[in-house]
Amino acid sequence: MKFKRYTVTAALPYANGPVHIGHLAGCYLPADIYVRYLRSKVEDVKFICGSDEHGVPITIKAKKEGITPQQVVDKYHKMMAEAFNEFGVSFDIYSRTSSKIHHETASEFFKKLYDKKVFVEEVTEQYFDEKANQFLADRYIVGTCPKCGNENAYGDQCEKCGSTLNATDLINPKSALSGEKPVLKNTKNWFLPLDKMQPQIESYIDSHKEWKSNVFGQCKSWLNSGLQPRAMTRDLDWGVKVPVEGAEGKVLYVWFDAPIGYISATKELTPDWELYWKDKETKLVHFIGKDNIVFHCIIFPAMLMAEGSYILPENVPANEFLNLEGDKISTSRNWAVWLHEYLVDFKDKQDVLRYTLCANAPESKDNDFTWKDFQAKNNNELVAILGNFVNRTLVLTHKYYEGKVPEASEYTKVDLLLLEEISKYPAKIAASIEQYRFREALSELMNLARLGNKYLADNEPWILIKTDEKRVQTIMNVSLQISANLTVLMEPFLPFTSVKLSNMLNLNKELKWNDATRTDLLLAGHLINTASLLFDKIEDEAIVAQVQKLEDSKLLNEENNVAMIEPSKPETSFDDFSKMDIRIGTILEAERVPKTDKLLKLLIDTGIDKRTVVSGIAGYYKPEEIIGQQVCILVNLAPRKIKGIESQGMILMAENNKGELSFVAATKDTMNNGGAVK
Ligand code: 2FM
Ligand code: ZN
Repeated sequence: MKFKRYTVTAALPYANGPVHIGHLAGCYLPADIYVRYLRSKVEDVKFICGSDEHGVPITIKAKKEGITPQQVVDKYHKMMAEAFNEFGVSFDIYSRTSSKIHHETASEFFKKLYDKKVFVEEVTEQYFDEKANQFLADRYIVGTCPKCGNENAYGDQCEKCGSTLNATDLINPKSALSGEKPVLKNTKNWFLPLDKMQPQIESYIDSHKEWKSNVFGQCKSWLNSGLQPRAMTRDLDWGVKVPVEGAEGKVLYVWFDAPIGYISATKELTPDWELYWKDKETKLVHFIGKDNIVFHCIIFPAMLMAEGSYILPENVPANEFLNLEGDKISTSRNWAVWLHEYLVDFKDKQDVLRYTLCANAPESKDNDFTWKDFQAKNNNELVAILGNFVNRTLVLTHKYYEGKVPEASEYTKVDLLLLEEISKYPAKIAASIEQYRFREALSELMNLARLGNKYLADNEPWILIKTDEKRVQTIMNVSLQISANLTVLMEPFLPFTSVKLSNMLNLNKELKWNDATRTDLLLAGHLINTASLLFDKIEDEAIVAQVQKLEDSKLLNEENNVAMIEPSKPETSFDDFSKMDIRIGTILEAERVPKTDKLLKLLIDTGIDKRTVVSGIAGYYKPEEIIGQQVCILVNLAPRKIKGIESQGMILMAENNKGELSFVAATKDTMNNGGAVK
């Protein structure tokens, strides 16, 4: 179906930190490429984004920094807006959810659903931190994910397996505020009955088999496990107040209000906002990261369906995650490349980062950013292919024709074939972009530059100039046309370079995508401007400095890791403690427990006897390394069966802040087996 207009959104980032390369690669860069392409196709498009200023991530940050949530969002909203702008992310509006218009829009939306009796009002038991005197929603509570065993899952989501959770699903829940075990307390909330809406949602998802397989697959897996009602309100004080009676002290769930932020930002942008949200001929596309899939593909569409007057997302092209130098990007560990810092070190090189992130985009699987690769992409591709072709073309034009485009006289067969080939590139690149395959699109763009380079290298105008001036005129004319086409086609990916090249070619008319099918964009006699390099080489020292910066933050982290140590468990009595009979033992035999990753079966001489113990240390020690190792062993723990083996005790291990284990024992051979630990 051909759409009349487009509403393109990029996930509203939480205003609790600066923007890093993971954000850019995840959704802002692909969204920007898509929108720039649509604008170049002269489509009617609105590109919507803003800061997500509610939710627990903001209040946690405020507590940490000792400031108010409003101060947190004011600081980071400004910083994020600047970073996006500096990197050419061309939103039509970058709004914020603390704005009046957003509070009004989100309230009205909730009220409409409330009046339509969509919500189920229910009193349920929710976790409460007695020490902090508050309910614990979402990220205020951490525990073990019941689906994958991740011990750091949040109350609303497990970031490891992507499951959406309710806080009460967590195993061993702990308050993120005090580290205390929370108690359950009754409270009233309003639930969206996703269970009842499942058939509608299912047929919506099934009508979008064209979605990226990672997105479609995740949706199907949630549907297969059966949707559950989900609370759309929270007992918190930071957020949009719940606009109904009996809801004092409650705010809208951040994942209810945030996507409505797309609508309120559009309202702020244009009085015609309804056309962009309610007209069937509008294509609504949400660019997001993979952790947001359920909210955009199931919960937000369910809200829109329940409201009744809105269109539904037509596509949700979610990316996977970008890692940095082999490790997960982490704000708290400062393992990130921050956009504002990048610009200090690589002034005016926004496009080099855009290029690297697009060429390496985590489109179908997690991917890695390394500084070495960044350097290689710049030096071997941008400088050596694209920059080199354009530079040779422009320099020779100045040298031979004083900057005037020469006339193409007679085309050879090779020229004609090349011109035909060139005219196909706009459609080729467009097809990839329209299918959200931005890496492929970028590589096609580079193929066009490669064609140009090869044409120059094969025809050697710098040699021919001595013998066949006429032929050189044609060669240079063709090369200039390719440069003009590149200006148009690179714009979505490399907007800064496109402007630079357009200025050098003195293209005074703003060219559009379809113009690049032509091969006569520069008329003979047109005067071009002075040439300068599009890209310059990045030297090893600059890369070494970046890698060192990351190493430094790793070290600093290790020094500061006290902050990451788990809070202590509740007090225990001496009597309870003294019931434990801990002895010194020696490992006599060790072997892996088949079909497990973590378990070793150990035979231990305890001094009293020789007994079998199954221990979860296989991730840290190889069986052959630990024969003869002395260990502390709890000998009076009731035996239990693990993977069919009776484990008769437990060895004591110490865990450091990275979760790595080491033995707790006197060094080898210094104690007799059976010695008691006092
Ligand atoms: O994951 C996040 O950063 C969320 N703030 C994304 C919200 S997207 C939308 F719904 F607003
Ligand atoms: Zn999980």
